[in-house]
Amino acid sequence: MGNLFEQELNRESVFSNRDAISPYFIPDALPFREKQIKEITGLLAVVLKGKKPNNLFVYGKVGTGKTCVVKHVLQELDEFKQKQNAQTQSCYINCRLHNSKYKVLQKLCKTLYPNENFLGYSASFVFDKVLDFSRAKKANLIIALDEIDKVKDLDELVYALSRGNDEIENGFGGVSLIGISNNVLFKERLDARTKSSLCQEELVFPPYNAEELKEILKQRISLAFLPNTVQESALNLAAAISAQESGDARTAVLLLLRAGELADKQGLVKVSDVQVKDAKSKVEEEITYSMVSTLPDQEQLVLYTIALMALKEKPLPKITGQQEQGVLMSGEVFEEYQKVAKRFKESNVSARWFRAYISELETYGLISTTKSGPGMVGNTRLIKLNVEAHKVKESIEKEIAG
Ligand SMILES: Nc1ncnc2c1ncn2[C@@H]1O[C@H](COP(=O)(O)OP(=O)(O)OP(=O)(O)O)[C@@H](O)[C@H]1O
Ligand SMILES: [Mg+2]
Repeated sequence: MGNLFEQELNRESVFSNRDAISPYFIPDALPFREKQIKEITGLLAVVLKGKKPNNLFVYGKVGTGKTCVVKHVLQELDEFKQKQNAQTQSCYINCRLHNSKYKVLQKLCKTLYPNENFLGYSASFVFDKVLDFSRAKKANLIIALDEIDKVKDLDELVYALSRGNDEIENGFGGVSLIGISNNVLFKERLDARTKSSLCQEELVFPPYNAEELKEILKQRISLAFLPNTVQESALNLAAAISAQESGDARTAVLLLLRAGELADKQGLVKVSDVQVKDAKSKVEEEITYSMVSTLPDQEQLVLYTIALMALKEKPLPKITGQQEQGVLMSGEVFEEYQKVAKRFKESNVSARWFRAYISELETYGLISTTKSGPGMVGNTRLIKLNVEAHKVKESIEKEIAG
C-alpha cells in the first residue's frame, strides 16, 4: 500500500490529456469550418494593409463552432501581424460577462492598456481612451463581441463604436466589430440603424450532421484519450445523440468527457456505449442549464414565468371533466408574465413579442406547445415545460442575481 495520494495520482485513466476534450479547449484543426474560416480571414485580411474591415455578424445554433472559429482566426491574425508589423489590435469580449456598453468599453480598455485602471471613470472618458489608442498607434481595432445579444444597451454601444470611426481620420485607424449570436430572433429585434451597421457582412454556421460530429470527435479523442480506449460504438452513439439533438459539437464533446470520467470511476480500461448512455442525462442537464443562462433576458423571464406557474400548477379542467396534467394555457402565462416583467422593471411586454419568445423557447426544446384540442375551454395554445421547473427557476434566479 503506497501513500493515498500517490495511489490516486497513479490510478489508471482512459485520458491522456483530459483538458483536450473540455468544451473550453480550442483545437488547432477545426474540420467542416474551412469555408467560414476562409471567409472571416478574407474579410479581416485588409487590416494588414492598413484598411478597416467591414463589420461582421456571425450566427448559428448552439455548439456550431462560432466561438472557437472566431477565436482561432483572431489568434492567427495576432501571430501573423507581428511578422508583418501591421498596426492592428484584436479583442475578444464575452458579453455574457460584460453585458452593457460601459462594461464592454471597460473590458476593451483593460485589453488595450493592460497596466492602467479605468474603473470608476465615465463612459465617455473610457470611450475616448479607446479612440486615443486607435489614433495614437494608427491601429485598426477588431472587436469580437461574443453572445452579443446579452448587451443591454447594444444600440448605444454599436452607435458609439461606429461613430468612433468618423472621429478617427481615414486611414489612421478604425474600429471593426464581429458580433456573434446563437439567437435567431436577435437580428430582427435590432434597431434598423444598428442592424445595418453591425450586419455589413453575415456568416451562418449550420449545425453539424452525425458524420461530421463523428469526425470532430475522432480528432478530439486522439488528443484527449489514450490509444484504443474509446470503442467505436461509444463514438457512434455520442455522434448520433448530438446530431439528433441539434447538431451541437459541445454536446458531443461533453458526452465523451463525461463517459470517460464514468469509465475511470468504474475502473474500466475502455469507454463503451454503456458509459455514453449513462452520461447522456447528466450532459443534457448541463447543456440545458447553460442554454437557459445564455437566453436573452426577456426569454428568461418568459421561461421563468412558466417555471413558476408549473411549480404551483393546478391540473387544467376540461369540459369533459377530464384533467390535463402539466400543461399551462398561453393566455394565463402571458398575464402572469406581464406581472413578473413588471417586478423586474421590464417594460417591453407586447403580446406579439411574447408569441415570438414562446416560439423561440420551443425551437430550443425547452418547452413544447400544442393547440388546445376539442373539449378544452376556448381556443388557446397550451404550453408544457420540458425541463425540471425547480431547476429552471433556480438557474434563472442565479442569473438575475448575478
Ligand atoms: N469544427 C470543430 N472541430 C472541433 N471542435 C469543434 C468544432 N466545432 C465546435 N467544436 C467544439 O465544440 C464545442 C462548442 O463550440 P463553440 O463553443 O465554438 O460553439 P458556439 O457555436 O460558440 O456555441 P454557443 O452558441 O453555445 O456559444 C467546443 O468545445 C469546440 O471546441
Ligand atoms: Mg459561443
